[in-house]
Amino acid sequence: MHTLARALLAEIEAFLAETGLTPTKFGLAAVNDGHLVANLRKGNSVTLKTADRVRAFIDEGERAQGASATGRARRTPAGPVHGPAGSLALRSAEDPSPANLPLPRIALIIGGGIAAYKCLELIRRLREHRVGVRAIMTKAAQAFITPLSVGALTGDRVFTELFDLNEEREIGHIRLAREADLIVVAPATADLIAKMAHGHADDLASCVLLATDKPILLAPAMNPRMWLNPATRRNVALLEADGVTLVGPAVGEMAEAGEAGPGRLSEVPDLLAAILGLLRVAATAAPSLPSPLGAPAGPLSGRHVIVTSGPTHEPIDPVRYIANRSSGKQGTAIAAEARLLGARVTLVSGPSQLPAPAGVELVRVETAREMLAAVRQALPADIGIFAAAVADWRVSEAFADKLKKGAGAGAPRLELVENPDILRTIAGAAPGVRPPLVIGFAAETTEVVEYAKNKRKAKGADWILANDVSPKTGIMGGDRNTVHLVTATEVESWPDLPKAEVARRLMLRATEWLAEHTALT
Ligand SMILES: Cc1cc2nc3c(=O)[nH]c(=O)nc-3n(C[C@H](O)[C@H](O)[C@H](O)COP(=O)(O)O)c2cc1C
Repeated sequence: MHTLARALLAEIEAFLAETGLTPTKFGLAAVNDGHLVANLRKGNSVTLKTADRVRAFIDEGERAQGASATGRARRTPAGPVHGPAGSLALRSAEDPSPANLPLPRIALIIGGGIAAYKCLELIRRLREHRVGVRAIMTKAAQAFITPLSVGALTGDRVFTELFDLNEEREIGHIRLAREADLIVVAPATADLIAKMAHGHADDLASCVLLATDKPILLAPAMNPRMWLNPATRRNVALLEADGVTLVGPAVGEMAEAGEAGPGRLSEVPDLLAAILGLLRVAATAAPSLPSPLGAPAGPLSGRHVIVTSGPTHEPIDPVRYIANRSSGKQGTAIAAEARLLGARVTLVSGPSQLPAPAGVELVRVETAREMLAAVRQALPADIGIFAAAVADWRVSEAFADKLKKGAGAGAPRLELVENPDILRTIAGAAPGVRPPLVIGFAAETTEVVEYAKNKRKAKGADWILANDVSPKTGIMGGDRNTVHLVTATEVESWPDLPKAEVARRLMLRATEWLAEHTALT
């Protein structure tokens, strides 16, 4: 074993003995962000330092392997070797250990849109999933974010110029186009889409797109009028006919005040899911490219997670129903995150406009009773997360025919009865049926934490994620959330975060809990 690795392992061993942390907890801390580490040790900086050293060690190892690959043949009998300094490991014929398998690599073309900043988070998440990223930025993209930030996150140089002698000699636009397993364009501007559709090649990004023989994924982002413009519609249709894959755009508020509609860059978890999905397909199609993504792998591999999401619709008559303003965004984000961590995921969703995240099994239902039946059907599970805003009441007997406004008959009187309580039912199920970790949501408008504490006890849930859904918060239907995680022993208040980040934090906590309290069967 490498001496440096031996020294680091000894350090970790001593650290675990000193703190009583489990290796799983430490592993999660090492590959994730500081917040998890801080939660583990209430901010103890020793953990952070050791975790940082692990990350630095991994990066160092990759750099060393990249450097030793320079000057060698680009393919060994054991598999492909990717370019020089950078993020991909070399698989040598002598050492076929999983750690030495080549990682999949994408070329990320960043276009000049306001959403370019989201690429920084995307790169970070891709690196966490051990995907190598080589970034190419258009001139316009550099007006929004700097190559310096992008390069710091990819750990590689960033390519910006077509007519740069150094860049061309070092890698060259044809190699950039061919040495990736997938080309991703995010944000894909109206301009880049138009250039691609018509085969233009007047800068590095468009040259690479024209010269590649690899699959292409576009993540469009633009003003809704640009997206709906007939010219863009024609260009997108041409590209789809050419076999280019699109993720998004999402529908919602735009950066420009007062603008809304289709055109938002998809959220990072959705971009990540689309990229990992396509890399899996590429790995299956090219067995010479052994990929850790061949099967969903992650800390939740072999686990089953059930998530409920969205509102329920309780019929009054064939055309009218009782509902609420839930969009299903938080539950869907949680399902996407659980999938990214390697779980088999069943998403039981009430009526919502949202598509299923890649790789998630979606069961669509209308009513609370259907939702409970679908959850029961999906059991057993390791984690049950009940994020749906289930209607508490339904009309005792829905009318078979549409109610009519009769002359002088007055308004109909509706008798309401209680719906089944899905969280209480599943949390109170017999051992073996009840998921080991049951998490409920509490949507409150006053005394949020107090109600959540009571709800946790009353329903028998392990954790409650409480949020304030008063209209002023914009949480219901919005893209951000401010939650309090209520457990048997503590209340943790998280800052205002995108729903995707709430999902990420929750799933990391749940993963950690599961690793500590249960064994895989
Ligand atoms: C503030 C600002 C924001 C912009 N946002 C977008 C956008 O989100 N999507 C888009 O297609 N174009 C957007 N544009 C226009 C592009 O930057 C412009 O078409 C540019 O030529 C695109 O270059 P590229 O495709 O080479 O990156 C924006 C321009 C400005 C000034």
